[in-house]
Amino acid sequence: MPGQNPVPWKADPHTKAKHALYERYLSKWMPIMVKGWGANITYAEGFAGPGVYLDGSPGSPVIALRTLVENPNIRTKVKNGGVRFVFVDLDQRCIDMLPGELAKAAQPVPLDKLSQHGVQIAIENGECEPQLERILTRVKAWDRPILAVLDTWGGAVSFELVKRIAGNPSSEVIITMQPQYFSRFAAVDDITHGDRVFGASGWRAVVQQPSEAKERWLLQRYRQTIQAAGFPFVLDFELVDTRGQSLFLVFGTTHPKGLTKMKEAMWEVDDIAGVGYRDPRDPSQETLAIELEPHTAPLKRLILDHLNILPGHRSPIHELRKFALYNTVFKESQAMSVVRDLVSSGLLMRADGEATDTGLSFQHVVSLPIRQ
Ligand SMILES: C[S@@+](CC[C@H](N)C(=O)[O-])C[C@H]1O[C@@H](n2cnc3c(N)ncnc32)[C@H](O)[C@@H]1O
Repeated sequence: MPGQNPVPWKADPHTKAKHALYERYLSKWMPIMVKGWGANITYAEGFAGPGVYLDGSPGSPVIALRTLVENPNIRTKVKNGGVRFVFVDLDQRCIDMLPGELAKAAQPVPLDKLSQHGVQIAIENGECEPQLERILTRVKAWDRPILAVLDTWGGAVSFELVKRIAGNPSSEVIITMQPQYFSRFAAVDDITHGDRVFGASGWRAVVQQPSEAKERWLLQRYRQTIQAAGFPFVLDFELVDTRGQSLFLVFGTTHPKGLTKMKEAMWEVDDIAGVGYRDPRDPSQETLAIELEPHTAPLKRLILDHLNILPGHRSPIHELRKFALYNTVFKESQAMSVVRDLVSSGLLMRADGEATDTGLSFQHVVSLPIRQ
């Protein structure tokens, strides 16, 4: 609520990890899109914040602008295009601070002269919905790529907004929310808002779930919601700190390359003390340290669970690699070593009858052992 909290506020460990991830992803997205679309692209935030935290660390709008202005390889290619940055926040105090923070990032070019270099910035006070869509229309952002960062403190955004972004060419969405907010949905105290977020009333079946399963059930339902909105590729996971507090992050893209890049970004982030990732689908809900080669016990469980629901409980390994990429927080490249371990330990069988993992390739088929 505007006015109740101080501005700026303290960055918690999740925020630091989230920013490191944004920075890694934007440093990939920005050059690809600037080069691929003649710099005719938009970065938009519906919940922008003030651009700075109490310790002076930058907020997401500043991180985004820096990935363009601090990269000479792409900055110089923008002039004839027009990279748009759109920032909306409901709290006027954030809107008052943000230009000053962006101006520091734009130095030595004054903020109001950035447009002469092909960078258009719009900063406005208002509710993300409907304000964000209106500004995107005004600045002619539709019909060309938009990366929309919708960093809500709680309640997500409407299905309709996500759907509109998904229908726009080469566009992507990053939505963050607190899983506790889903518990509020679970308590069914805000049915109309829940219907808007999920786009229909099917989510209300949460009342039939056992109480310990409600939150995870809703997180998974939300993933399906983002897919139903038009994003075939979704990466969703929780950032969890040592106190067990978590932030749920959902990334939707229409292109598998976007998913691959976001996953690379996810595991390139430097370790942030006390924060790890959790896959909402992992039955054991294990928190993974952020490291280049993540610990794979949850991937083993996810592959075994996945095989359990496949016809004949079997799959070629190349399909399990795709499963890891599209349906888990793990990298495609990690599936093979997990399958090898599962074969060696007898938890998976090779269809060719070999008992060891020697000579195993992506083409081989593996299955769950036949239960006697
Ligand atoms: C999580 S903070 C944003 C943090 C920022 N994206 C960052 O990472 O630096 C959420 C922001 O949303 C704003 N906000 C809350 N409700 C809003 C609404 N309905 N529409 C637009 N902004 C809203 C708050 O004022 C707050 O600045």
